[in-house]
Amino acid sequence: MKFFVDTAEIADIKELAETGLLDGVTTNPSLIAKSGRDFIEVTKEICGIVDGPVSAEVVALDHETMMREAETLRKIADNVCIKVPLTIDGLKTCKKLTGDGTMVNVTLCFSANQALLAAKAGATFVSPFVGRHDDNGFDGMDLIRDIRLIYDNYAFETEILVASVRHVVHVLESARIGADVMTAPPSVIKSLFKHVLTDKGIEGFLADWAKTGQSIPTE
Ligand code: G3P
Repeated sequence: MKFFVDTAEIADIKELAETGLLDGVTTNPSLIAKSGRDFIEVTKEICGIVDGPVSAEVVALDHETMMREAETLRKIADNVCIKVPLTIDGLKTCKKLTGDGTMVNVTLCFSANQALLAAKAGATFVSPFVGRHDDNGFDGMDLIRDIRLIYDNYAFETEILVASVRHVVHVLESARIGADVMTAPPSVIKSLFKHVLTDKGIEGFLADWAKTGQSIPTE
């Protein structure tokens, strides 16, 4: 499963990219607003840090303006992935852009039928929002299971990008189901590394090692 980070904060992206485990970045208008940065400028900077797809979202609601915005965004870098909302105009835009070989992430997906439409529109990624689904009394992971089943039934190549990830169990469940990608805030990705028994184990090994009086030569 690929790991994308859902943020526009440069320091967090750099820190995670240094682990070698980061496959891409997703942003949205709210995350850009939170960063306080210029949209084009920060997107360009992010594209220079990671080699993988960097999602940048259009804000127009009509197809023609979405296409014009996408034109500006895709000039930023080769690894820009145009993010469009799951609407009729968004999917028209998706079909046109992917037909030209541009990566497209169809966002704000809340039903398996919507995901089916995104795949038919040739989306590179579809982003079902599991956390917001849970917030509204639905099981977000059930949505991922349904989409996986449908995509496998028809061998759709659209990648399931689990979004609105709120905690590590969302990540675990995504991997169990066989989602292609998950995007999570930096805090959730960092939590994946942690286990109390890992810390306790290191402490115990180092205490015993100190008793040997030895050190490993490091040149
Ligand atoms: O980028 C889209 C998605 O991940 C947003 O998550 O936490 O705002 O529901 P959230």
